[in-house]
Amino acid sequence: MAGGNGAWTPSEENRKLGQTVMDAVKASGSLYRKGLGMIASENIVSPLVQDIVASDLHGRYAEGLPGRRYYQGCEDFDTIESLGLELAKEVFNAPFANIQSISGTVSNIGALKALAKPGDRITAVSTADGGHISHARMGAVGLRDLNLTTYPWDEDRMEPDVDAACKVIRETEPSIALFGQSVFLFPTPLREMADAAKEVGASVMYDGAHVLGLIAGGQFQDPLREGADVMTGSSHKTFPGPQGGFLLSSSEDPVFQRRLNTAMFPGVVSSYHLHHVAGKVMALAEFKEYGASYAADTVANAQAFASELAAKGFDVLAESRGYTESHQVLTRHGETDSGAGAKAAQLLEEAGIITNMNMLPGDTKAMTPSGLRLGVQELTRVGFQPDDMQDVASFYARVLLDHEDPSAVKKDVHLLKEQFQTIRYCFNDEGRSGYPM
Ligand SMILES: Cc1ncc(COP(=O)(O)O)c(C=O)c1O
Repeated sequence: MAGGNGAWTPSEENRKLGQTVMDAVKASGSLYRKGLGMIASENIVSPLVQDIVASDLHGRYAEGLPGRRYYQGCEDFDTIESLGLELAKEVFNAPFANIQSISGTVSNIGALKALAKPGDRITAVSTADGGHISHARMGAVGLRDLNLTTYPWDEDRMEPDVDAACKVIRETEPSIALFGQSVFLFPTPLREMADAAKEVGASVMYDGAHVLGLIAGGQFQDPLREGADVMTGSSHKTFPGPQGGFLLSSSEDPVFQRRLNTAMFPGVVSSYHLHHVAGKVMALAEFKEYGASYAADTVANAQAFASELAAKGFDVLAESRGYTESHQVLTRHGETDSGAGAKAAQLLEEAGIITNMNMLPGDTKAMTPSGLRLGVQELTRVGFQPDDMQDVASFYARVLLDHEDPSAVKKDVHLLKEQFQTIRYCFNDEGRSGYPM
């Protein structure tokens, strides 16, 4: 019960419920503040982005585009979204941007809606080779009722077999040739495959969910100038914004641009989480200032970490190509389908290092894979340098090679992490450390 200005007095049971939720939220924050977050699809946001995500915008609506709304009260948000559109075009060097997508998956659903009709054909990387679930029949591709053919894969190079993939594209004549992966060590050799797609009238779509921050920072590849008509992606993996997505295009054609906009709204979003859009805009402004150095530092850290792990005796994939050109490192911990990756991830968690198990070439079961996919972008954001990656690799060796008690290693993990509590590459003029509660 509550009076006009009176206090709310919950029942004891519900008060405890509320306390449990708050405790768990704080504990999750503490896990990442004290430990090492190394999941390749995650990141942390700057203090100003945190403020924006917690702002009143979280409860507001603004269907439509700036200046053409279905709701009143959008004038300030129009300022934000208009600025964001210009910033996104600049940061991604794209003639077209839509920043309304609420996730990478929603960006993909929107792009598939704009570029193909139900029953059309699509070519993509298989999930077994690192493609994302939204590229598969069981995900967005199936939702759009597209017929999928996957590219032959070059396991040594960890990329599509270019000649064989071009053949598949020419024979299949898809509406969309989709590229990009979740397991993404090296830039896709896009030009030749995009040319084959263009020959048969296919649109070229590049899913940059994982590597968007590296692309915008000039460190990976430049898909919109290598033949991609459309680039999709998440705003919260290597791009260090709040959870959400981007839809970008190299096309200057207003008719095509309108098709992309309407695929997003009213196609796949209604409310599009204005607090996250505004957070993305701040992240874009910060990226414009610091993105190039952040992206370069991220790749340097991944390469240093991979080399350190290999030097300690770990089986790090793609040795012949220098292990990685992205934020990701892949390690194999036992026989294929043995579950050794799951076991390794569990032990590392006990030591305060958060990772995820991952299927590697040869694995066939997602729950018992042999590998780990590791990402260094979050550690980079709090100031880890290539030299610090030696310490991180030592923790892995102590837990997984020397079989030391993970709880003993955890103490050292926490001691190291205490020194890295300030989020970098962002506007932080109030000296705030950055980690939220
Ligand atoms: C290649 C790729 N595309 C799309 C997605 C989906 O992104 P989101 O989680 O933002 O929906 C992911 C997520 O990991 C991904 O790896």
